[in-house]
Amino acid sequence: MRLFFAAWPPPRTAAALHEWSKALRGRATPAEKIHLTLAFLGEADLEKATAAGRAVRARRLELLLDEARYVKRNEMVWAVAREAPMQLVESLHANLAGAGFVLETRPYAAHVTLLRKAPAPGAMPALPRVAWPVDEFLLVRSAGSKYEPVARFPLSK
Ligand code: 2AM
Repeated sequence: MRLFFAAWPPPRTAAALHEWSKALRGRATPAEKIHLTLAFLGEADLEKATAAGRAVRARRLELLLDEARYVKRNEMVWAVAREAPMQLVESLHANLAGAGFVLETRPYAAHVTLLRKAPAPGAMPALPRVAWPVDEFLLVRSAGSKYEPVARFPLSK
């Protein structure tokens, strides 16, 4: 099954980001699907992935989405956290590598895809100021166009 680790925003935050994206052209991500990917596994073993998630040691954090970015190469509009949650990401990636998962070699970009198939938007309005406390992260199964959380991992205080 296709799996990835992600952080999900509170519903109000997702709604505000979705509202922002509606001012632009392209296919807006529905509010309930807005998320930040921490590690993408692709086809992977559920038990091994769950064990790697459980072994993560990282603190809660507040995610700050501080840049709207158009990615021309894949016609996406991202909301980017210029300061990535590196303690969490590094712990997760280290545990995954230790368990034999082969991860992307590109440097990690903390991004939330808000639009796909987006023509170049020119200047974009500033992102809304939204609160995104990350108290847990999720292992998510991607099936067709649906995301299904399969495990949750709390972060320490
Ligand atoms: P995207 O939003 O930039 O497409 C579920 O598909 C999640 O995994 C999405 O957040 C998606 O990022 C990400 N994803 C899909 N394929 C990926 C890949 N090859 N490497 C990294 N992330 C990927």
